[in-house]
Amino acid sequence: MINIDKFKDLRVLVIGDLMLDEYLWGKVDRISPEAPVPVVAVEKESHTLGGAGNVINNLSAMGAKVFAMGRVGTGQAGCSVLKKLEMLRVDVTGVIREADCPTTRKTRIIAAGQQMLRIDREVRHCISVQTLEALTRILAGYIDKMDLVIISDYDKGLVTRELVARIVEPARKSGVMTLADPKSMDFSKYMGVTVLTPNKKEAAIAAGMQIQTPEEMAAAAAKLMAVAGLEKLLITCGKAGMVLYETGKTAVVIASKARQVFDVSGAGDTVISLLGLGLASGATFKAAAGLANLAAGIVVAKVGTATVSVDELKQSSVGRYREKFG
Ligand SMILES: Nc1ncnc2c1ncn2[C@@H]1O[C@H](COP(=O)(O)OP(=O)(O)OP(=O)(O)O)[C@@H](O)[C@H]1O
Ligand SMILES: [Mg+2]
Repeated sequence: MINIDKFKDLRVLVIGDLMLDEYLWGKVDRISPEAPVPVVAVEKESHTLGGAGNVINNLSAMGAKVFAMGRVGTGQAGCSVLKKLEMLRVDVTGVIREADCPTTRKTRIIAAGQQMLRIDREVRHCISVQTLEALTRILAGYIDKMDLVIISDYDKGLVTRELVARIVEPARKSGVMTLADPKSMDFSKYMGVTVLTPNKKEAAIAAGMQIQTPEEMAAAAAKLMAVAGLEKLLITCGKAGMVLYETGKTAVVIASKARQVFDVSGAGDTVISLLGLGLASGATFKAAAGLANLAAGIVVAKVGTATVSVDELKQSSVGRYREKFG
């Protein structure tokens, strides 16, 4: 049985692509005289943490102590990210401010009950040697104080092969497990992590195989585990739940609970967060994945990239969770 109350005692290092999700809410009452487009009169603005920041949201909602590592720009968006992290009481010593790298920002314009437009601001260049060295130094001072490391790769250039190697090696030495949510064609980049959590599409692309049957998924999983030297692989399958692969064991299918879905975005962030907390608290792969599946099922029934609370998880897990994974 996983003791969810213990999650608040866990220290988690999250390293990855921090982003700012920006929402502009407004009204449309005319078409622009300049071009055949609606004019949105903005009434409200809101901002949330996105990318690796949403993994941090999920971990903080469980009460875990988070140490964040990544980079933001020196402008207003970077300040907002840092402020939001500090409001969650996250240690931001490891967040580097790079002058020539704007903070990744995704702006959604919402009016008349729908999203009208999304504007992305990002530069996907790989981290500089200086940033890599700075992150390596900071990691060295923190890694042995952590219970878990989560690498949240959104392919914005922070998570390079070299950086992964510099995380994995000291983590192994300190006996800290490393989970990574991949976004790459080549999973060998994640060599040595404890668990990878791709979705089905990412797994198919990285394996260079189509995945339509359980046999095809098993073949793709075997290939990916060999490529990245993995002992554990969790493939998320949207409303079909998830499949776990572990060296020397038969695959385990965890079905999702049918529910009304509002917004699936961010479900993957919930999965890696809860899987990590479960494993770090001593649960088996199957038990931790079962909890992650439950949590993701709750999150997709909420609007926007949401998180799940300890109480919600407890309520939903009583009975169902105990009987299946306890
Ligand atoms: N329609 C759904 N009904 C119930 N659970 C769902 C549904 N969609 C997703 N989930 C849950 O969320 C988990 C992750 O979903 P998915 O495989 O879509 O990940 P993802 O593509 O990485 O998500 P995202 O990138 O949007 O965060 C699934 O394994 C499942 O537990
Ligand atoms: Mg994902």
